[in-house]
Amino acid sequence: MEYIGATGVPVTFKSVPIDDNIDFHFILGFAIDASPSGEPQDGTFSPYWVSTLTPASVAQIKSRHPNVKALASLSGWSLGDKVLRWYDPEDPDRWISNAFASLKSIVESYNLDGIDVDYEKFHSRRGRSSPNSSTFAYCIGELISLLKNQTVISVATIAPFYTTVGPYMDLYGRYRDVIDYVNYQFYTDRVRNARGFLDTFRLRSTQFDAGKLLPSYEVGGRGIQGDAFFDALRLLGRSGFGVNGVMIFSADASAEDDYYYERKSQAFLLNSTVVL
Ligand SMILES: *[C@@H]1O[C@H](CO)[C@@H](O)[C@H](O)[C@H]1NC(C)=O
Ligand SMILES: *[C@@H]1O[C@H](CO)[C@@H](O)[C@H](O)[C@H]1NC(C)=O
Ligand SMILES: *[C@@H]1O[C@H](CO)[C@@H](O)[C@H](O)[C@H]1NC(C)=O
Repeated sequence: MEYIGATGVPVTFKSVPIDDNIDFHFILGFAIDASPSGEPQDGTFSPYWVSTLTPASVAQIKSRHPNVKALASLSGWSLGDKVLRWYDPEDPDRWISNAFASLKSIVESYNLDGIDVDYEKFHSRRGRSSPNSSTFAYCIGELISLLKNQTVISVATIAPFYTTVGPYMDLYGRYRDVIDYVNYQFYTDRVRNARGFLDTFRLRSTQFDAGKLLPSYEVGGRGIQGDAFFDALRLLGRSGFGVNGVMIFSADASAEDDYYYERKSQAFLLNSTVVL
């Protein structure tokens, strides 16, 4: 899976190399519960990914590659200069109902298959209003359940990182049955070598199920870099962890090196697949 469209670069789906023998998820960044100036909208989400990712281009990449799915990622770090944070809605059930209606409309107009949950901040600037993480778990868990049981979406993923593990563990603990993958942002742990990556993966697999946990890579970013990432994947395999996928952030940055990590990750995953 790969994030796309969050940085303003006029990126397109069709330039990303896709092997037809693997499940490939594009995660569009981001659908945000905010007005263009960053004011919360009580659960009414709008798409803020780059305008080159049109509904027609989603339809085209999916018809060219039937193994492609497209997901809308919820929130992300910021909208323009405004840092986004989870807020406890006054009326959680009204928030869920607004979120359901707005996401249903986005999913239908863009022909999407799912959502990714990427709330990244849970406290106000001065740490004064510390939200109740069980409200986050309730709102997001019920929203995913409803989107799935009304067959609006078929896939749901979550993207915790080291400072947000708490609220995501609450969510996962209560709603694991409707969460398909945990694309944990391993690069935020800033581990630089395969051995350290394995230790971190082992820790995160005690917090989320190992079978749903995906190793991840930030192109030109933090954490493990270069081919050491593939050493880490091999070490995970040798240490008894099935590598069931990879998350890459992001297509926006990858165009510069001709999608080296996308190509190599897909080759690695296909090579390590045991055909039963
Ligand atoms: C958090 O929310 C839950 C469910 O709404 C409630 O039972 C609990 O008392 C709340 N905790 C705090 C500290 O407000
Ligand atoms: C769908 O999920 C919602 C939220 O959890 C729940 O209230 C509702 O009963 C479910 N409906 C069906 C048909 O399972
Ligand atoms: C595929 O697997 C073989 C045997 O484990 C290994 O020698 C080779 O380097 C792998 N290729 C890739 C692209 O990972």
